[in-house]
Amino acid sequence: MKFFVDTADVTEIRDLVATGLIDGVTTNPSLVAKTGRDFFEVLKEICGLVDGPVSAEVTAVEFQRMVDEGRKLAELSENIAVKVPLTWDGLKACRTLSQAGTMVNVTLCFSANQALLAAKAGASFVSPFIGRLDDQGHDGLQLIEDILEIYDNYEDIRTEVLVASVRHVTHVLQAAKLGADICTIPPSVLRQLAQHVLTDRGLAAFLADWEKTGQTILDRKNG
Ligand code: G3P
Repeated sequence: MKFFVDTADVTEIRDLVATGLIDGVTTNPSLVAKTGRDFFEVLKEICGLVDGPVSAEVTAVEFQRMVDEGRKLAELSENIAVKVPLTWDGLKACRTLSQAGTMVNVTLCFSANQALLAAKAGASFVSPFIGRLDDQGHDGLQLIEDILEIYDNYEDIRTEVLVASVRHVTHVLQAAKLGADICTIPPSVLRQLAQHVLTDRGLAAFLADWEKTGQTILDRKNG
């Protein structure tokens, strides 16, 4: 499963990309607004930090303006994926942009029927928001299962399922168990993936026992 980081904070992105485990970045208007920075400056900086896709969302709601904005965003870098909302205008814009070779991430997906339409529109990625469904008492992961089942029925569907609105590490675990293509994860949740109290405890015990030997690995005279 590919890991994208869900933020527009370049400090967080730089730090996490340095692990070599990040395959892309997703932003949205709220995440960009949170930085307080110029949209295009932030995007250019992010595109320079990661080779994989960087999702940048249009803010128009009408088809032609969405296409015009998408073309402008795509000009910023070859790894820009233009994000459009899952509306009829967004689907039409997705079709137009994807037919021109632009990567499109169809976002704000909350049903399997919506995801089927995104695939038919030629989306590179579809972003089902599982956390927001859970927030409403629905089962976000069931949506992922439904979408994957539908997509697996048709070999001509190339759209990747990009699990979004991830709230905790169990969302990541379950998305991977279901076989989702990508999970876009907030930095705080990403960092929690590596953490386990028994790992910390075991490492401390190893180092304490090693300390007692008085030996080192690098500073040896011979060998
Ligand atoms: O960026 C898309 C999505 O991951 C946002 O999720 O629900 O935490 O705002 P949310």
